[in-house]
Amino acid sequence: MILCANFKANKTRQETRAYLAVVESFVSANTIDDTVIVFPPFTALERMSRNVLIGVQNAYPAQNGAYTGEITLEQLEEFGVKTILIGHSERRHVLGETQEQIAAKFRFFAQQGFVIIYCVGEPLAVREQGDEALMSYIDAQFEGIDCNYADLIIAYEPVWAIGTGLTPISQQIVEMHAALRAKTQAPLLYGGSVKVDNARSIMELDNVDGVLVGSASLSANDFCEMIAQAAELKNV
Ligand code: PGA
Repeated sequence: MILCANFKANKTRQETRAYLAVVESFVSANTIDDTVIVFPPFTALERMSRNVLIGVQNAYPAQNGAYTGEITLEQLEEFGVKTILIGHSERRHVLGETQEQIAAKFRFFAQQGFVIIYCVGEPLAVREQGDEALMSYIDAQFEGIDCNYADLIIAYEPVWAIGTGLTPISQQIVEMHAALRAKTQAPLLYGGSVKVDNARSIMELDNVDGVLVGSASLSANDFCEMIAQAAELKNV
């Protein structure tokens, strides 16, 4: 399984250090071999930790340059970061990133050999229009994206489930993940209101290879509990 903690714009550098100390010791004490990735804010980036991958939530697709307010490859390299989230719904819907910009970002970081966690997902109004509208919306989010990229991980995150406490019913996750599986062999994560209470049952679903957790990952203990659930699943 792959378990990701997306801090968004939460936690200070000090809080992130304390958090990573808890998660790292949990992972080594329990000899966890699942992949654990933490996405702190830029101000809390650390050089690679021992057993937890550190990724960024965003970056500008350039080596360096005149991009006020952005950070680029040069700054990521200083921290040894080689993992990035691209296409998160908050980047698309709150920050207004277009599919063209997202595809340019994808191409650049793929060329640099990054592990890319590429996010797709529909707003509620689209889901309510039925399966055809839903799938054409998701298909459009793959424009300019190489589904065969070797270090690709896909995260299905319905916009209406992110930060709302709402999660799709299992059948909706299974159907979407089956459709994504037909497009790509990449691992498929589910994200959107994943928490200790539902993580296990989501990870048990067909074609779910892990979870991308926002709010519930802010507690190191809760995130460790979800890591433990993933490890237990393997032993069933
Ligand atoms: P959430 O966020 O777990 O708070 O719903 C998930 C995400 O945005 O990646």
